[in-house]
Amino acid sequence: MQLEDIGTVGVVGAGTMGNGIAQVAATAGYDVVMRDVEQQFVSAGFDAIDRSLDRLVRKEELTQAEADRARGRIEGTTDLADLRDAHLVVEAVTEDMGVKQSVFGDLDDTCGPETVLATNTSTLSITTIASVTDRPDRVVGLHFMNPVPVMKGVEVVEGEKTSEETLALGRAFAQAVGKETWDADDKPGFVVNRILMPWINEGVRAYDEGIAGKADIDRGMTLGTNVPMGPLELADHIGLDVVLDASETLHEELGDRYQPAYLLKRKVAAGDLGKKTGAGFYEYER
Ligand code: CAA
Repeated sequence: MQLEDIGTVGVVGAGTMGNGIAQVAATAGYDVVMRDVEQQFVSAGFDAIDRSLDRLVRKEELTQAEADRARGRIEGTTDLADLRDAHLVVEAVTEDMGVKQSVFGDLDDTCGPETVLATNTSTLSITTIASVTDRPDRVVGLHFMNPVPVMKGVEVVEGEKTSEETLALGRAFAQAVGKETWDADDKPGFVVNRILMPWINEGVRAYDEGIAGKADIDRGMTLGTNVPMGPLELADHIGLDVVLDASETLHEELGDRYQPAYLLKRKVAAGDLGKKTGAGFYEYER
């Protein structure tokens, strides 16, 4: 499979990452089939795409005609069989190995033998996900960043059996949808989350231990190191449940230096998951 052979892209999962990936693929001219398990999740994915495209039109990064064409290229479905003709599929379901393996097993049965299967996993092993398929050489990590339509980078992750051809295709596809890439080996957290998660957890601990107020911690890091968001604001943006899942995987695989902060666990237990629930470290209008 070469980049030129890709016409239709499948996306499994219409949540924050999945709808963003569907949007950038459609904006780049691909026909996209976006699948989620229930119609309400597919509809919520389309709502997010509409809001995001509107925002890009307002910022004059897209014309209304380009946005309309992109929107028109995305088909929604709840039936995985509708991905049978996809040339490349990007999986963006929940960060749970069992769920991802089940999706990959089904995709392996559904899609043609040449189809490349990519996972957007942020910390889980590409090799373990690929192991349930008969095509581990055609499985690759394509780790997009949130919010997908805005962030410029994609991490390309090589599993134990990923072929050079699949890696090259993964990089070429990410570039074709307007992103720049870097390579990472299949080790927990790859590049970004291996370094970002301890940074966020240290921010949470600094807040919990009274080093400074939350706004001062975020101001300190944004003004002091020129990042767009401090650790607490960024955790709310990503979703505290996502941060905790990623932190727990890193902790399990890499030991004590990756222990998630206590206050992060307490917030998730309370259902305060960040922007998406209206409260995390900060409160948000919904
Ligand atoms: N589509 C979707 N969301 C968009 C968007 C678009 N076209 N444009 C902006 N956003 C989002 C922002 O997240 C934020 O959401 P709400 O309005 O819903 O609260 C809002 O839109 C801010 O809009 P602005 O126009 O004011 O955006 P900005 O120009 O100030 O930039 C930002 C916002 C790009 C998110 C910037 O603050 C930033 O770069 N922050 C850091 C983001 C980051 O580090 N992302 C990577 C996280 S790590 C990751 O994703 C990996 C992982 O596995 C966890």
